[in-house]
Amino acid sequence: MEQQPTLTKLKRSTPYPRNCTFNPEDWTILSQYWYPVAQCSEVTEKPIAVTLLDVNLVLYRTKGQLVAARDLCVHRGTPLSMGWVEDDEIVCPYHGFRYNTEGKCTSIPAHPDANISPRLCMTVYPVIERFGLVWTSLTGDMENLPSFDAWEDPEFQQIVCPNFDIKGSAGRQMEGFLDVAHFAWVHTETFGDRNNAFVPKYKVENTDYGLNVEYISTVSNYSKEQAHLNLEGFKWRRVFDVYPPFTATLKVYFPEGGQLWIMNAVCPISARQTRLFVPIARNFDKDLPVEGVYEFNLRVFDEDREMVENQKPEDLPLDLQMEAHIMADQTSIAYRKLLKKMGLSFVYTS
Ligand code: FES
Ligand SMILES: [Fe+2]
Repeated sequence: MEQQPTLTKLKRSTPYPRNCTFNPEDWTILSQYWYPVAQCSEVTEKPIAVTLLDVNLVLYRTKGQLVAARDLCVHRGTPLSMGWVEDDEIVCPYHGFRYNTEGKCTSIPAHPDANISPRLCMTVYPVIERFGLVWTSLTGDMENLPSFDAWEDPEFQQIVCPNFDIKGSAGRQMEGFLDVAHFAWVHTETFGDRNNAFVPKYKVENTDYGLNVEYISTVSNYSKEQAHLNLEGFKWRRVFDVYPPFTATLKVYFPEGGQLWIMNAVCPISARQTRLFVPIARNFDKDLPVEGVYEFNLRVFDEDREMVENQKPEDLPLDLQMEAHIMADQTSIAYRKLLKKMGLSFVYTS
């Protein structure tokens, strides 16, 4: 069993953000879950600013620890991401207040001898590194990290694709990842085929973590350039696992035992802005340059982006009456029902 993330001792609640794009009820629910906010390699001693659910965060490393905190100095509201790390503490650039990795303020240079109130602190969030990504949660209350065994498997090569930003909602993006009827229409330049649009019946199961879907079809996963490798009549098996709210994995079974595992891990920056992280593992072509994987995935996600950024309403309607459904949409329907069960509203944002 993998070790589960633990909460830091100094847990504090984060107020509902000003100009928040989620309604307060939805924001409160979403803030309990874990999300990826950066690639591990992006976080160094130099603090960086990221946004999760309209909350500005700062990420940095001290010698021994990775820190995710609210990007706000409580003295005068300066973003701590403008500061720097020194002796395992982050220093605010405005008046030099220092905070340790637990968020405690340890120094007020203007009054070196004064007692520092314990209330004067930086809000620190629970944080964990997994699948090449930094995950955090504003409360850490819900355990929704996905399982992705191939990440630890020496038979597989592990690749983290470059981050992908979308001007659209996380729910629409996620649903697009789970949608099997669009391959033939949207992915015509990468792996889809307009002459193979039929969606056979498939199986969707509710699980303790979310959903498990098994889809078997003749839709090849080879790129157009590699299409000749496909075997006539080969049945392609795709297994989706959904970890609500916004993470899913897809395992694609290639001819001759090849496996490609793709994680669609979504950071809802706001209700209209989404950052997609894509860890990938494969047990074939391991000697080929990873740039080929980056490039192919970028093309696939670019094709999806055009749809996701233009759908209306921008949010995923959880009221099933609001859109028309076909047989092929079983996964989407089950996904919308799960989000509804989490307590999100009918059209779950603003
Ligand atoms: S605003 Fe950070 S020390 Fe004053
Ligand atoms: Fe797609």
